[in-house]
Amino acid sequence: MKPYNYPPSEWHDRYLVQAGWTKSLRERIYQLSNLRNANRIMEIGSGTGVIISEIADQSHGQTYGLDIDHEANIFSRSLDSGTRYITGDGRTLPFPSASFDVTLCHFLLMWVPDPETVIGEMRRVTKREGWILALAEPDYGGRIDYPPEFDEIGELQIQSLFDQGADPMIGRRLKALFSSVGLVDIQVGVLSGEWTGPPTPEELESEWRTIAADLQHKLSKEALEDFREAEMEAWRSGSRILFIPTFYAIGRVPS
Ligand SMILES: C[S@@+](CC[C@H](N)C(=O)[O-])C[C@H]1O[C@@H](n2cnc3c(N)ncnc32)[C@H](O)[C@@H]1O
Repeated sequence: MKPYNYPPSEWHDRYLVQAGWTKSLRERIYQLSNLRNANRIMEIGSGTGVIISEIADQSHGQTYGLDIDHEANIFSRSLDSGTRYITGDGRTLPFPSASFDVTLCHFLLMWVPDPETVIGEMRRVTKREGWILALAEPDYGGRIDYPPEFDEIGELQIQSLFDQGADPMIGRRLKALFSSVGLVDIQVGVLSGEWTGPPTPEELESEWRTIAADLQHKLSKEALEDFREAEMEAWRSGSRILFIPTFYAIGRVPS
């Protein structure tokens, strides 16, 4: 899961950028699932706590963040003392059955080798009529790059994700995953795209740091630098489009 040895503070910056992409969707899903009135809420794969600490700020319930990465949990605790951050594996959640009103994840399932086990565990620990939320899982199979000179970057990134053990096509599997564990009232969708201006310098920096790390063994430094400059130019001239379909799913444990 962690091919690069960044300190948690750098992952945190990346996760903040990613959280920006799903902000309006989260708001809608939090309302749909009545999240702010839930008593016990857990995020699996909570990383540096970006999503669950936001929920902690907005709800009266007790929040839990579970991540397999102990260092990330130490970092999360330093920023958010209200949430209980636990080191554990989403495939064997250390909680009794039916102990949460809402369980959720955000950019997690792509990284686990057996997402069906994680969803099964989320269902087990969620109470009857409680909600399970998968807020964001990409599907690189539907990636659109423009101008066409950037197709190669897209293809290499997909290969790199496979090499890292990830499933870059997880998005399309969400509906089947939710159905397979018997959830009801399932709603699945894809985040839409909108291009009103270039990304901020911080977003571009974060994106390129990820691309450079993903492609370090696939392209020379010079080739990467050429792509980076070409992309900056494409954003400047207004031609650049990058769309990676990002799926979400919500479902309820039957009564
Ligand atoms: C891409 S990060 C997303 C972090 C956070 N959800 C966010 O969006 O800001 C995925 C996180 O899942 C964690 N993770 C990966 N496999 C896991 C597992 N089997 N159980 C728990 N956490 C896991 C990683 O350590 C990492 O922190």
